[in-house]
Amino acid sequence: MRSGERKTRLVAVASGKGGVGKTFLSLNVAVALAQRGRSVMLFDGDMGLANVHVLLGIQPNQDVSDVIAGRCELSATLLEGPGGVKIVPGSSGKRDVAELGVTEVTQTLQAIGALQPPADFLVIDTGAGIGTHVTTLARLSDAVVVVIRDEPASLADAYGLIKVMYQEFGCQRFQLIVNDVFNPRRGLDVFERLQQVAMRFLGLPLELCGVVPHEANVINAVRRRDSLLTAFPDCAGSVAIQRLAVNLEAVRIDEGNNEFLIDRLGAMPRKAVT
Ligand SMILES: Nc1ncnc2c1ncn2[C@@H]1O[C@H](COP(=O)(O)OP(=O)(O)O)[C@@H](O)[C@H]1O
Ligand SMILES: [Mg+2]
Repeated sequence: MRSGERKTRLVAVASGKGGVGKTFLSLNVAVALAQRGRSVMLFDGDMGLANVHVLLGIQPNQDVSDVIAGRCELSATLLEGPGGVKIVPGSSGKRDVAELGVTEVTQTLQAIGALQPPADFLVIDTGAGIGTHVTTLARLSDAVVVVIRDEPASLADAYGLIKVMYQEFGCQRFQLIVNDVFNPRRGLDVFERLQQVAMRFLGLPLELCGVVPHEANVINAVRRRDSLLTAFPDCAGSVAIQRLAVNLEAVRIDEGNNEFLIDRLGAMPRKAVT
């Protein structure tokens, strides 16, 4: 990549366990980055059970499954989200998309990354579990954000995700977000607990990206079909997410990698999905 040319930073939001706040945080971190003057795309990578658009009360005419089937161009699916975030909607209830393999997921992400003009950030909401979609989206990203809540199943599943990403894909950096905490001190303890396990069994330090409080206005933002950051910019939850965005801006990316996404898998996808 020539110096001065812009490169999109990919941020995957994963968790292992469902219901911990990935979709809420993906949307709101994307809006926070946009409010800081960044151009941001948000890809609903929970393929098969996508719901970013549901959160915003939008019914997309076309989504990523139409692109994969060759029915439309990727650019035709783009939705305008809060704060000027451009959303690539995922599809819900379609088995063919839910069962896409590594190559198709890679091609899809590559096509999104190639959209013009290039965004500064591409935030990727992923689904639950540690299946192929999640691991592929995570290993193709510059930053893997792992969302946890203060409950044993969340910590166990986040550890499972980190272990797989580390041992099978050599991923060494994980940005942790402790979400939905009732006491910030407790949030730090939860992070420490997971970090101790990761150190003990994997020898791997984790990075704390931030702690987000339980926020009563989340439900009010959902009722307004808006993001928390645009509906209630001054509430404690929004302020915490604004801080997260500052930390995410500091994520390192590989310089000199002009084979966007292809090099990272070590395999050349056979055809692009545009
Ligand atoms: N910090 C928070 N405060 C209050 N409610 C939250 C918070 N984070 C998430 N939620 C709520 O928790 C539920 C699950 O969040 P969601 O983003 O759908 O999780 P996931 O995508 O991980 O399955 C949603 O109803 C969401 O609005
Ligand atoms: Mg979700």
